[in-house]
Amino acid sequence: MGSTIVVGGFFGDEGKGKIVSHIAFADKPAIIARGGIGPNAGHTIEVSGRKFGVRMIPSGFVYPNARLLIGAGVLVDPRVLLSEAELLEDVKRVGVDYRCAIIEKKHITIDKDDPHLSRTIGSTGTGCGPAAADRARRTTIQASEIQELSPFLTDAAAETNQALEAGENVILEGSQGFGISLFYGTFPYVTSKDTTASQIAADVGVGPTRIDDTIVVFKTFPTRVGEGPFETQMSEGEAKKLEIEEFGTVTGRPRRIGWWDPKMAAYSAMINGATQVGITGLDKLDPNVRGVDQYDDLSTKVRTFLREAEKEVGVPFTLLSTGPELAEIVDLREEKLKRA
Ligand code: GTP
Ligand code: IMP
Ligand code: MG
Repeated sequence: MGSTIVVGGFFGDEGKGKIVSHIAFADKPAIIARGGIGPNAGHTIEVSGRKFGVRMIPSGFVYPNARLLIGAGVLVDPRVLLSEAELLEDVKRVGVDYRCAIIEKKHITIDKDDPHLSRTIGSTGTGCGPAAADRARRTTIQASEIQELSPFLTDAAAETNQALEAGENVILEGSQGFGISLFYGTFPYVTSKDTTASQIAADVGVGPTRIDDTIVVFKTFPTRVGEGPFETQMSEGEAKKLEIEEFGTVTGRPRRIGWWDPKMAAYSAMINGATQVGITGLDKLDPNVRGVDQYDDLSTKVRTFLREAEKEVGVPFTLLSTGPELAEIVDLREEKLKRA
């Protein structure tokens, strides 16, 4: 496996947390390192009926044997980080790159009060945009200057590259999704940084030649929170009828829901350089497949969808999620290797 990047292919909330957790238990990485913007992300993972939501530490934390790193590119809110670290039995697993920029209270205040950010864009109010702006102005403070973070400080880039050099597996975890990338998304209705695989590699400090696999995660019914265009959006009534409503992990806002978008999926797979696709919510397409973990047990409806979608996107669909629980997944990665 070597190094694998996991990123979102639609507008975020595709279920990257679920996919990362599954591959962590399957591939036993030495390190799970987070890239992406900051605590505007919310990953939900369900294990044996318990639900965890994390915004700063890598969502693969449910796999107990990996070191959990936050890359230099990520904006850190120390209050969020410290409260999430308490979730862990072994706090020493967490490492924060000493170069991470810090979100201060003033950034959160601006994010919530500025009508352009809070209303026009519909930001998460977590201070990410204003902190990213200050970082570009070179006025932010770095993690190395925060007393409470001193037990966590590390060179995450060096640790990650050394693990790869030693032949260990490493997962680089992205956040948000392609459609809200500052560069490739629906500008100005986007987040404050690029969200593609190249950015995640840069956030953690792993060069492009060292990436072995890029898994782009899609969901059968894409969702979007906040403002901005959403070509395949369905009406609230349709979503209700299909029983596929969703609410945000960070803000609790209802997510706008849409139909599968093959054009966007193909374009996002291209720019992310996807080698594999993870798809979540197959149980939303057909409730009969909830919990299925073998390809042969999937219904004709789901298999037809997968065959068509794989053709449209042009990348093998290898991780097929059939419910929110960690074990509810079909993993075809071995088969893909045999076919290659
Ligand atoms: P961001 O980094 O914020 O973009 O989040 P994310 O990609 O980790 O996704 P998030 O956890 O915010 O949202 C995904 C939701 O879908 C969560 O509530 C998951 O529990 C749920 N989920 C994941 N996989 C499946 C699946 O296969 N079926 C169903 N029904 N729900 C799923
Ligand atoms: P910000 O990143 O908080 O500035 O928000 C900018 C836009 O990105 C808003 O439309 C948010 O709803 C959206 N956004 C930010 N983070 C996430 C996420 O993790 N999932 C989905 N949408 C997000
Ligand atoms: Mg989320």
